[in-house]
Order: sequence, then C-alpha cells, then structure tokens
Amino acid sequence: MAGGLPVRLDPAAVARVETKWRRIVTPQPHPEAVAILKELSRYEPVSMTFDQYPVFWDKAEGHTVSDRWGNRWIDFTSGIFVANTGHSHPRVLSAIRAQVDGKMVHSYYFPSELRAKLTRRLVEAAPPGIEKAFLLTTGSETTECALKLARMRGRKTSPGKLKMVCWTNSFHGKTLGAQTMAGRAGAKAWIGPTDPNIHHLLFPYPWDADGALSGAARFEKDMTALLASGVKAEDVAGFLLEPYQGWSALFYPADYVQAVRRWADEHGALLCFDEVQSGFGRTGRMFAHERFGVRADIICCGKGISSGVPLSAVLSTADILDADPSLNSTHSGNPLCAAAGLATLDVLAEERLPERAAALGVKVKERLEALRRRFAPKASYVFGDGLVWAVLLTGDKPGEFDVDLADRVTEACVNKGLLLIRTGVGSLKLGPPLTIAEDALFEGIDVLEEALAQCLAAPAAR
Ligand SMILES: Cc1ncc(COP(=O)(O)O)c(C=O)c1O
Repeated sequence: MAGGLPVRLDPAAVARVETKWRRIVTPQPHPEAVAILKELSRYEPVSMTFDQYPVFWDKAEGHTVSDRWGNRWIDFTSGIFVANTGHSHPRVLSAIRAQVDGKMVHSYYFPSELRAKLTRRLVEAAPPGIEKAFLLTTGSETTECALKLARMRGRKTSPGKLKMVCWTNSFHGKTLGAQTMAGRAGAKAWIGPTDPNIHHLLFPYPWDADGALSGAARFEKDMTALLASGVKAEDVAGFLLEPYQGWSALFYPADYVQAVRRWADEHGALLCFDEVQSGFGRTGRMFAHERFGVRADIICCGKGISSGVPLSAVLSTADILDADPSLNSTHSGNPLCAAAGLATLDVLAEERLPERAAALGVKVKERLEALRRRFAPKASYVFGDGLVWAVLLTGDKPGEFDVDLADRVTEACVNKGLLLIRTGVGSLKLGPPLTIAEDALFEGIDVLEEALAQCLAAPAAR
C-alpha cells in the first residue's frame, strides 16, 4: 500500500469535529501516538508503521473506531475488508468468548465438530458446484493453494499442463506464488527470475486502446496474443482473477469472464476466483463472481469470512480438493476462528447483509457520481458495487492517476474523522462495514467530498 507521500508524523492542530458519529478533539496525529510509533519502528519493519496513518485503534465497534485520546472515526475501511459484519459484532464476540471460556482454542490434527459445521455452511453458502471447503489462515495461502491445485490437476492430464494465467495490476497476497501471480512488476522485483509458467494478460481497462471492444473480444485478442508468444493452449492449467481489482473497485466485464470460462472449458483449465476481498456480501452478493453468471472451479476466501480473526478457505469440488493428499496446516480450522466464521455466516444471513449492501450501493453510486461530476475532470471514474467503491483521480496522462492528491485527501479525511483506504495509487477507496448506519455512510461521503474540495483548493503543502 506504499503511497506517493510519506505519512505526516508531526502533530498538527486540526479543526474540532463533533457529530453523532465522529469526534476529533486532539491534534492529529496525537503526540503520544507519534511517540509510540517511533518506538514501534525500532522493532518492526518500517513498512508496518510509516505506511499507515497513525490512528491507534483502541476500540472498534460497528462502523466506528476510537482511540484512547477521545477521537472517533467513521470507518470506511472495515479494517481492510475484514469487518463486513461490523467491528465487534456481539454474535461474533460471544462465539469467540464461548471458545475461550470452554477452554477449546486449538485442536490441529484432531477433527472437530466446529470444522464439520463450518465447512458445510461454507459449501451451502457458495454457488452450485462447490462441494468442499479447505480451511486455512490467510488469503495468500488460498491463492497459493489454487495455484497448486490447478497444477496438480493439470499435470494429471499432461506433464506440461502447469501454466497459470493471471492479470496485470492484480493482487493475490504477498507470499512467493501469490506475488508472482499478482500483476504489479514493482512488487515482485525482489523475486528475480519469476516462474516462467505464470503469465499475465492485460486487465481490460476502459481507458486503454482496446476499450471500445467487447469484453469477450478483448479476452480473445489478448489470449490469442499469449498463444502466439509460444504458450500452448493445452499447457494452461488455470486462470486466477479477482472479480474486481482492489485499487479501483473496477469489475471485469461479464462477457470477458464468460469468455474466460468458455476458453477454460474448451481447454480443460480451471477458473479460480480470488474472492479474498470481494467475498461475504461485500458487493451485494455472497460472492462477487456470481454477477458474471459463470461457474467457479475454485474460490479463494479470507478477510470478511470471520470478522476479524485469522481464517481463510479454499472452496472447490471434491474432485479437485481430494486430489491433493497433503492439504492441511497447523491452524486449519482453529476452533476459535471457526466459531467466529460460523457466527459471521449467521450474521450475514440473518441480517441479510449482502442484500443490504446491494440496496445501499445503489444510493452510494448516485452520490459518488454526483461528486465525480462536481470534480470532473480531476475525478474521472467511479467504480464499484454494493459497499465497495473507488473514485479515481486523474493524473497528467491518460491511464495515470494522481497519487499525491489521493493520499492528501485520505489524510484530510482522517483529520476530519473518516478512515478511508490508502491505496497509494491515486484512488479514493471506500469499503465500510455492511452494517453501517445509513446516516453514517452518507456523512462519511460528505466528509470525503469536503476533503477533496479542500485539497483541490489548497496547493500541496509538501
Ligand atoms: C484480493 C486479495 N487476495 C489476496 C489477499 C491476501 O490476503 P492476506 O493478506 O490475508 O494474505 C488480499 C489482501 O489484501 C486481497 O485483497
């Protein structure tokens, strides 16, 4: 998430804010926060401290976050897409508490009823065709697992069937395979020579030269070019894609993904969706890829699956998941996390959170489109659905975005009592909990608009 601007660490007086949902009553960042941060940076990698705004979370509840110095923010980050059910949902907390009180917090290698319940509920919540769930801990592990499963399956057909096709500017996590499959060259420079069997197609951005082509035509054109470069169709084991790209909340066109599905079926390749960020109601559906009307062979899940404790899952068919005799991991189905996962599924269903996100998304879109029109051409695109949205701020050239301005606006929002996601690539990104009160949601968007107006009016201070 490294942004263009260094995070400001000198405490400055900011205007006092006191509303129903926000409270900013101290300098920002708080002087004590800066002191702790400096201490922290002596013992942690700098990326853990200086890449983020120094808001010290003391309590996170519903859609708000408070520090211990009396400040309170509306949270448009959901702790980066984790708290879909809202922070500290009572059902989730009591499920975790029951595990702790019952002295049952770890049981790896021995089966548990909780694991039986959770895997069954995950399969039931998934679209038709999904038969089994393998529990893990992080999102990165699930995309690594998808790569492994696609290759294991491919190589049963022929030894060379191990190629994975991914997309530029995608994100799949930070472990070796995940980062190789991700599409930002800078992020994987450390790897050195990358796996020659992982390939990237261009993400179909509307502003690119081929923007006027249909989604299906773009996929066919780019896939043909990949094959012309020497990749054999029969060697493709699978495709991995996020339903929308994280930085921009921009979805693939449905006909593009349908063309990928057709191609995969014709050539015996798997279609894997990375739903680590987009799953569990975020886009107005339980899983975001359902909007494309295609079947998934593998769904990678994490983040919103468990409302704040480390749990992830790979969902797939019995045929695919049973093929690997080595699938297990120390914290796979950890009882504390599994209990939180089950409670999360209950809350999503009982509070109808995907439906709620879909309904609120219609209103958010209207509101953000009005904001875009007000600030055009600087605000150039609004993308998203449900409760994930991004406003793209145009840079100097087509396809470039104003990283510094986005970082300044995000910082101004923090100073006004709104936590926004710092993408570091020129977008203003919103992802509030799906439980957010409607007045807080629109108050937050008002704050965003005010911050953007102020930053555009004031020249950059640094
Ligand atoms: C789409 C996507 N895939 C994978 C990951 C990696 O998940 P984790 O950080 O839990 O390893 C993320 C995390 O942001 C993500 O957004």
